[in-house]
Amino acid sequence: MTGTLIESLLARMTLGEKLGQMTMATAGGATTGPVRGEATTESLRKGEAGSLLNIWGKQATEGFQRLAVEETRLGIPLFFGCDVLHGHKTAFPIPLAEAGAFDPGLWERTARAAAAEAAADGADLTFAPMLDTARDPRWGRMAEGFGEDPLLGARFAAAKVLGFQGDLASPASVAATAKHFVGGGAALAGREYAAADISDRALHETYLPPFRAAVQAGCAAIMAAFNSVNGVPMTAHVPLLRGWLRQKLGFDGVIMSDYAAIEELIDHGIAADRVEAGALALKAGVDLDMVSGVYLSALPEALARGLVEMADIDAAVRRILTLKQKLGLFDDPYRRIRAPAPPPDRELALEAARGCVTLLTNNGALPLGATTRRIAVIGPLADAREEMVGPWTLAADASQCVSVLDGLRAALPECDIVHAAGVSIRGGDDSGIAEAVALCDGAEVVVLCLGEAANMSGEASSRAHPGLPGRQRQLAEAVLASGRPVVALLSSGRPLIVPWLAERADALVATWFLGVAAGQAIAEVLTGRIDPAGRLPATWPQEVGQIPIFYAERPASRPLKDNDPFTSKYIDAPNDPQFPFGHGLSYARVELDRLRLGQSEFSARDILRVEVDAKNLSDRPSLQTVFLFARDRVASAAPPLLELKDWAKVALAPGETRTVTFTLAAQALACLGPDLTPRLEPGDFDISVGLSADRRALLSAPLVCRPLS
Ligand code: IFM
Repeated sequence: MTGTLIESLLARMTLGEKLGQMTMATAGGATTGPVRGEATTESLRKGEAGSLLNIWGKQATEGFQRLAVEETRLGIPLFFGCDVLHGHKTAFPIPLAEAGAFDPGLWERTARAAAAEAAADGADLTFAPMLDTARDPRWGRMAEGFGEDPLLGARFAAAKVLGFQGDLASPASVAATAKHFVGGGAALAGREYAAADISDRALHETYLPPFRAAVQAGCAAIMAAFNSVNGVPMTAHVPLLRGWLRQKLGFDGVIMSDYAAIEELIDHGIAADRVEAGALALKAGVDLDMVSGVYLSALPEALARGLVEMADIDAAVRRILTLKQKLGLFDDPYRRIRAPAPPPDRELALEAARGCVTLLTNNGALPLGATTRRIAVIGPLADAREEMVGPWTLAADASQCVSVLDGLRAALPECDIVHAAGVSIRGGDDSGIAEAVALCDGAEVVVLCLGEAANMSGEASSRAHPGLPGRQRQLAEAVLASGRPVVALLSSGRPLIVPWLAERADALVATWFLGVAAGQAIAEVLTGRIDPAGRLPATWPQEVGQIPIFYAERPASRPLKDNDPFTSKYIDAPNDPQFPFGHGLSYARVELDRLRLGQSEFSARDILRVEVDAKNLSDRPSLQTVFLFARDRVASAAPPLLELKDWAKVALAPGETRTVTFTLAAQALACLGPDLTPRLEPGDFDISVGLSADRRALLSAPLVCRPLS
């Protein structure tokens, strides 16, 4: 039936109508124009766009849909694509923060809730999840993804795709778009849109696994990255788009370009004009042109020049119409637009925010005592709402956001809480510092709220100095000099490089951008109502010069040795990060003990069993994340020093000991052989468990892989 409908439409479509389906446009007013990439009422009526971008709201989407269904020759419904990165109206924590909850169930539920809100606002598809492995905090888009580790990325990908899509035809579901395929996070020097040079091994080990997981989870669409990889812009990358995605993985969903990226093939220097640009993108497998209008205007000429064939165009249109069909749009083009809006799920927003707050250091200043009488809440992010929501929210209502100040006042109604911003986030005016410091006098503790503005991360927000902008350091120095205990909160879309603050604050907390419930969750953690449960999804550097930095590095030919100058090190900075991947303190004292392996030898078909005891040695409850790592001691390619294989979250009552059990298929210890396909190589492995990727603190045991007999 599906096939019949689509084939009969295809048979009736003119070339212009086909190219219209392959065009996604903006549609500000849609009455006049044309602005670049913007559809007009007239062009929509002619079927010159098959989907619209970042238009939401029942009235707007219904109006455009009516135009498509009732006034175009074939009545093919539009689909509406929207960026829904961390919630739609109800803002959840940014993905980087949420990744630190290490909780696939939560990731799926927040995607589900975001999908339902976005769908009721007319969206059929989201440009999410963002699956760029990111090991460079200069890159602003790190905020939108899961961090540095490919296993974490693969699980995040699967959970988000399942959450967004559920049953794709449901009025509460949206199609997911895994982006940016691939290597955006490897942009040269962390600079947005810059070229990436990635070895084939790194591509397959580090950058592709999240996309494979997204495809395996049934992801409906993929967006090609803006950047080039190894000299070929991703919008025209035949080996990766046609070869890896389509042929190797069998991905038969829609591949779309990023915003104007087809036209930008000219800027990349691989196309002389729009005709060549369109032909290159189509030949590489890009079905849908976001905004550049190249397909619509230049593919007829490409056909005439013999650069593309009608079969290429038909294949792309077939995939786009199939997506519309799967979304149920041919049955009811208004199915999402007319669905009732779900009530905002603030409880879920709070649960998510709670899981992300990451305690980085603590000399005992936290949790705040229940009898604290006076707190000074200082800093430009203390009474901030919009900023706490974070980047890339189209429809979020920032007025509903709980600031840190609101949260603390509600959590500690008896406490005298005084506040001054001191400085603005970016500004150069330091005249408010003296007043802020004066407020600290008489306070038992200062909660210092520092960080980035929300729009300092996200697209086009690379930073060469990913520290505290503006005069915030001056403010912090003055507050630290006041001698009061200082609890510093860092709101950011990336790890911020502030070694001086990590050293001198009495406690340091990464609060990221936590969305609408930010202040409430932060206050609950600061007051000890809940144990801080967030863990770092990315290594936190202490020097910009250490970037890129990640835990799974390969051995140096001369590993660092104290007192040996000819070993791998900097002469002016340490090798160690400020905080390792997986780091995050608890208020409880928890230790791992008695690592046991179910076997000392294994072969390819075995299931491995690893057990360790997690002991809560304190009188406070704790929610811990226990990480399982492996290291292949000798392999055909230099094996990383450590690779994440699994993790488990374990709730521990005061004084409780629980055994954490991991089961792992032997194949999880495979490496990529010389042909870059996985193979399990016989020999010695180390299995390790820990509360972070700090190698000095791991419990490890040897395990031998025997060839299959
Ligand atoms: O989805 C985004 C993408 O991540 C960056 N460029 C614009 C797209 C649409 O808004």
